[in-house]
Amino acid sequence: MTVQHDHKGAKSAGENPQGTLSVTDDRTGETYELPVADGTVRAADLNKIKAEEIGLASYDPGLVYTATCRSAITFLDGDAGHLAHRGYPIEELAAQATFIEVAHLLLNGELPKAADLKAWERAVATGGTADEHLHKLVASFPRDAHPMSIMLSAMGALPAVYPELAQAPADGEPDPRPARLIALGSTIAAMAYRHGLGEAPVAPDTELSFPGNFMSMMWKKDGQPYEVDPRVEKALDVLWILHADHEQNCSTNAVRSVGSSGVDPCSAVAAGVAALYGPLHGGANEAVLNMLREIGDVSNVAEFMTHVKNGERRLMGFGHRVYKNYDPRATIIKKYAMDVLDIADGSPLLDIALELEKIALDDDYFVQRRLYPNVDFYSGLIYQALGIPSKMFTVMFAVPRVSGWVAQWMESAADPEQKIVRPRQIYTGAPTRTYIPAQRRD
Ligand code: SDX
Repeated sequence: MTVQHDHKGAKSAGENPQGTLSVTDDRTGETYELPVADGTVRAADLNKIKAEEIGLASYDPGLVYTATCRSAITFLDGDAGHLAHRGYPIEELAAQATFIEVAHLLLNGELPKAADLKAWERAVATGGTADEHLHKLVASFPRDAHPMSIMLSAMGALPAVYPELAQAPADGEPDPRPARLIALGSTIAAMAYRHGLGEAPVAPDTELSFPGNFMSMMWKKDGQPYEVDPRVEKALDVLWILHADHEQNCSTNAVRSVGSSGVDPCSAVAAGVAALYGPLHGGANEAVLNMLREIGDVSNVAEFMTHVKNGERRLMGFGHRVYKNYDPRATIIKKYAMDVLDIADGSPLLDIALELEKIALDDDYFVQRRLYPNVDFYSGLIYQALGIPSKMFTVMFAVPRVSGWVAQWMESAADPEQKIVRPRQIYTGAPTRTYIPAQRRD
């Protein structure tokens, strides 16, 4: 099969026509015109190329080279290390917005006007009360259960506990589910943390900010008013802006795929929690801390890097499917790590992290593979400095990502091009054969 890129403008199936490919199938001698649009060829057009009874499909493990949707929520330029939500660069949002404002932007496409922001903040502040069934569910876990398992189970239980979250609102009615899911994600995270300590849960405080309320639910002591440390409140808010959404990552793809069956948003978000739990994805921030602790001292970094370059270990918190330059979030988090660690008198693990980064940025193995620190490399150091245990780090990632997952679920549900996800496969199993009863198998 030979392919030429034909620059003549042709009607394209996509919204941004970019000419056509003239494809000659050498198996049949047939020539096909494949429209190019938005840097893609439609697989449905590929399927028109037939040599036998069924047309061609594309084979793309990990969907490395496959666009699964059109989305207006987040834009990444991996080579430039650029990230923007609805057109706003992450650097500007991190410097000037609040997480709740960014959540509104992701969900609605625009930064809220002052009055709308107040109403949105109120909806989230009052949407996170956990009822007795949720308390019993969390309390039913072993004391040492990983909080991501608790979060996964509790998010999946929401439609059973709150049936109204399983229903779409009546036409024209506002949808209360995004605010409730964002709020309940925060409440469940704090409940999971306190369960691990054997402490009773703390009810949401509707007078506090989103991060301030989270801190109160995490750390409030019985009977004492909770004093929010504004430095910690700000650091959490910035971290959560940086983790809110990130285009079609593994967990968002899970949310969209599960959501394509028509299931409710809570169940789709639970699928996102499950995917995020993995050490190659959101679980990497916990894995980074474990790695830094294992290295133990700056003097051991060179030896550890040898194991990485031999392929025996992964440098957790490094590398990214899209970013082939610095992850812009890592740059911002690193700066915050320095600021926040001043609160906690520094961290020996920070010195190890800085040495790992310094070596990696000069070493051919990493430079050739374009491996740079990603969002997970420094975030754990901040969480640790804030007194959050490493088992909670991925939960800290999941809390803000609920806003991105719900925004992506809503966009997918409203997309007329989307349908239930049901990919093809290449069958490698046994050819047709006849059943033999057990007594005759010897
Ligand atoms: C997140 O997608 C997103 O947007 C995710 C995320 C989000 O906000 O949702 O940004 C959050 O998940 C960030 C990534 C966190 N994960 C880690 O830090 C785990 C360590 N990183 C890797 O496992 C890896 O870099 C991935 C999973 C992030 C990306 O994997 P790819 O794109 O599939 O790359 P690959 O595994 O095919 O690696 C390409 C090469 C390989 O070497 P060769 O086989 O060519 O010799 O690079 C090497 C890999 O061995 N490599 C690494 C490495 N990452 C890739 N080698 C050492 N250490 C690493 N971290």
